[in-house]
Amino acid sequence: MTQPRIAIIGGTGVYNQSHLEGAEELLVDTRFGTALLQHGFIKGREVYFLTRHGPGHAVPPHLVNYRANIAALRQLEVSAVIATAAVGSLRRAIAPGSRVVIDQFIDFTRGRPSTFFEGKGGRVVHTDMTDPYCPDLRAAIVRAGKSVGQELVERGCYLCTEGPRFETPAEIKMFASWGGDVVGMTNVPEVVLAREASLCYAAIALVTNYAAGIAPAFLTHTEVLEEMARGKASLDMLLAACVEAIAAERTCRCRKTGGGFRPREEGEPGGTP
Ligand code: HPA
Repeated sequence: MTQPRIAIIGGTGVYNQSHLEGAEELLVDTRFGTALLQHGFIKGREVYFLTRHGPGHAVPPHLVNYRANIAALRQLEVSAVIATAAVGSLRRAIAPGSRVVIDQFIDFTRGRPSTFFEGKGGRVVHTDMTDPYCPDLRAAIVRAGKSVGQELVERGCYLCTEGPRFETPAEIKMFASWGGDVVGMTNVPEVVLAREASLCYAAIALVTNYAAGIAPAFLTHTEVLEEMARGKASLDMLLAACVEAIAAERTCRCRKTGGGFRPREEGEPGGTP
């Protein structure tokens, strides 16, 4: 059986993969723009690595070209994506340093292109989001955590803000009352586009701080980067174990509930014009 092609999308603080062997850079042109990736092997499996904010973390969360990134992965025939995302915690029980295998999101973004389906050719698509994160990939991450002796929080709701500013304490109180567990600025629309493209997608939220009003002091991006740097080696180990734990066969519903976006097909919203 052919192994699925796997991608890792690295968020804040994750600009390389120390377990990626034979890494080579490649540029992939899509209708939405160009994505820069690395291609190599982890534990003998083919892996693409993409750094969400670009080299040197030059692109802020609200300007990331999410559509180009996901369209590039689809063009490369990737079928399973594991992403990382730095987050603040809305719950005292989820302390900085925790890793959360998120299972739901709440979208509080405003101005981002958030779909591949713009109604071109009269095609209106409403993509199911009952299980936005692939249950099989989530289970693989949990198994991987156990295999490397890392405790993971096995579910949690990600509240996505527009950024790039941090939140006010009033917003954090509201988000917590809505059922959010962690807050970040990037997982939407990435998770949505992945489903529209029929990819399996899961994300590990890396808690770098308590959110505003829960944290004992003001928030800074430096603090986020410092916490990420502290956990980078063990995160790479976890991601390598995740790659190993991903099943060869896809038995989940992601492909079927996806919107069927095909980047190269003419007439599709992402197709070649
Ligand atoms: N808020 C939003 N995004 C974040 C945070 C936060 O507190 N920490 C890391 N990313």
